[in-house]
Amino acid sequence: MFADLIIINASNIATCAGNQQGAGIIEQGYIAVKDGRILEAAAGSPSQEMINSSTQVIDATGKTVTPGLVDAHTHLVHGGSREKELPLKLKGVPYLEILKMGGGILSSVRNTRGASKEQLKEKAIKSLNQMLMHGTTTVEAKSGYGLDFDTEVKCLEAAKELNIEHPVDIVSTYMGAHAIPEEFKGNTQGYMDFMFEKVMPYVADNKLAEFLDVFCEHGVFSPEESRVIMQKAKQLGFKLKIHADEIVPLQGAELASEMGAVSADHLLAASDQGIEAMAMARVTAVTLPGTSFYLMLGKYAQARKMIDAGVRVAIATDYNPGTSPTESLQTIMSFACFGMKLTPEEIIKGMTLNAAYALDRQMEVGSIEKGKKADLVIFDAPNVDYIVYHYGINHVDTVIKNGKVVVKNRQIV
Ligand code: NIG
Ligand code: FE
Repeated sequence: MFADLIIINASNIATCAGNQQGAGIIEQGYIAVKDGRILEAAAGSPSQEMINSSTQVIDATGKTVTPGLVDAHTHLVHGGSREKELPLKLKGVPYLEILKMGGGILSSVRNTRGASKEQLKEKAIKSLNQMLMHGTTTVEAKSGYGLDFDTEVKCLEAAKELNIEHPVDIVSTYMGAHAIPEEFKGNTQGYMDFMFEKVMPYVADNKLAEFLDVFCEHGVFSPEESRVIMQKAKQLGFKLKIHADEIVPLQGAELASEMGAVSADHLLAASDQGIEAMAMARVTAVTLPGTSFYLMLGKYAQARKMIDAGVRVAIATDYNPGTSPTESLQTIMSFACFGMKLTPEEIIKGMTLNAAYALDRQMEVGSIEKGKKADLVIFDAPNVDYIVYHYGINHVDTVIKNGKVVVKNRQIV
């Protein structure tokens, strides 16, 4: 069978296939693509029967190919930015204190409410372009900077339209439970009832989000409140995610396991029992080391302990205007390596197949295996270790999405 596209002479191919933590490296190999899907990946050279005059051949001599990166945790759609909070941060005012003062998330809520859908999309497109140029081909996008009905729907509709209009695939999450909006200050129950009666049924009926996420945190939603929100979400058919044990240990990992969440995210303060529970319940841990860095917490999620306990560990950007304003998973690789002490192969796996598990997309993307989407990144690096080791720059040379070249010579085509 002729291939539509073949990458030849790749120095390393990180297939990321299989359940072991390593990246399944093939040395000196090729990848054949047909009809937007992976046809074959192997060492050596493709047989001549695979190539005809219409086959696009890309020579990857000296380069490394990975699956398209999957960013399993972002707050993509929002208005404004928060660089004005930097002096407060540098003075040591804690994150939850800034939020209590009406800043933080609530300041982004005001900016998001004040923006039109078109303005939000324009800003999000800039981010999606950056993501794509840095190798991300699938991204999760949470709402949660609107909180009221109109703005939450506006943000989710923006993400839904962008999924069609932009090459990056977007998986949507409703996160009304991100903060208590000012109009419900002191009335968390009232806000929960509003979500249950007005927002969640509408989002579910109109298929505006596949997942629901809750910020289970001291001063935001308690574990008891988070449990009720998750139960309600389950009844409406949402899959579950949770911002768990980010700052204060609240047994969020245990709650995620009890509720059968697809992922639990952050987990800096997760307990040993919580880690055990996640392994048993097969909840994917989404670690966000860029957020640890940016909040200056001096502490990272215990990714090594999680891996040793048998938890599947993914790594994401947490791209958002407050605690991790970066679109680049390559930047996050540095923090995963030097902060969480993961190996480059574990990191690549955490940003591909393990991240796909966190989005329930493990059958479609995340590894270079026959039949999966041909989402591929060619890095100008001789091996996976080099990508992580040589930090702070963009190593992406070419990105292929659904079998088509979308980034070439580091530029979007
Ligand atoms: O994942 N922790 C809660 N939510 C975001 C931050 C949101 C913000 O500060 O704007 C997070 O870190
Ligand atoms: Fe987050």
